[in-house]
Amino acid sequence: MLVTSRSYAEYEAMFDLRELPDSVLDCCAGGASFTAEAAARGVDAIAADPAYELEPSELVDTVRRSLPATAGIVDEHQGSFVWHWYGSPERKDQYRIEAADRFLQDVSVAPERYIAAGLPELPFGDRRFDLVLCSHLLFTWADKYDRDWHLAALRELIRVSNAEVRIFPLVLQGAGEPVAFLPEILDELDGITWETRKVPYEFQVGANEMLVITRA
Ligand SMILES: C[S@@+](CC[C@H](N)C(=O)[O-])C[C@H]1O[C@@H](n2cnc3c(N)ncnc32)[C@H](O)[C@@H]1O
Repeated sequence: MLVTSRSYAEYEAMFDLRELPDSVLDCCAGGASFTAEAAARGVDAIAADPAYELEPSELVDTVRRSLPATAGIVDEHQGSFVWHWYGSPERKDQYRIEAADRFLQDVSVAPERYIAAGLPELPFGDRRFDLVLCSHLLFTWADKYDRDWHLAALRELIRVSNAEVRIFPLVLQGAGEPVAFLPEILDELDGITWETRKVPYEFQVGANEMLVITRA
């Protein structure tokens, strides 16, 4: 799996973020710059990802290698992507390069924000974060992680959230097929309400909705 570097602007659009609450978890954060930018805005922002177990030089290589590899996936499935949000492939690359730089800089100066951890077990207390974001792991990698893993991962994201979990996208990576088990596993969750909400972002054709889970 690629350790990609989406930018703050991409997170803002994917999750339709307006104001940030006091505390936010980005899980699986990869090389994204969201945590660095949120922390710079005074938010108690934490990033979690198993990739943070890597030695610093390996993490740099892994994040840098993901940039051309992502472009390769887009090339393979050209008809499955639209460019109205980014404007052009060059603009998208620019976002990702700048985000990777920002992430790598922040990891080196504030390593305490970057926790090596993986779903479905996170080392955080119940209701630790006002908002929990999950970009490009659940559902999009449903060909790698099965239904039971998704259910356990959802329960864990909900456990550490005090109010809301937002997940994007809701389709498989590459060609963007729907995930067959998505509606039924949501029915198995207790103590929550959920809705799919349209967002001002689209890259995979039709992937313009996030899942919003609200804790009772
Ligand atoms: C496609 S990247 C997304 C990174 C970032 N959120 C973004 O949008 O650019 C997927 C990330 O999921 C991480 N990952 C893989 N398995 C995981 C797990 N079980 N729990 C949490 N993160 C995981 C990978 O290390 C990788 O960084």
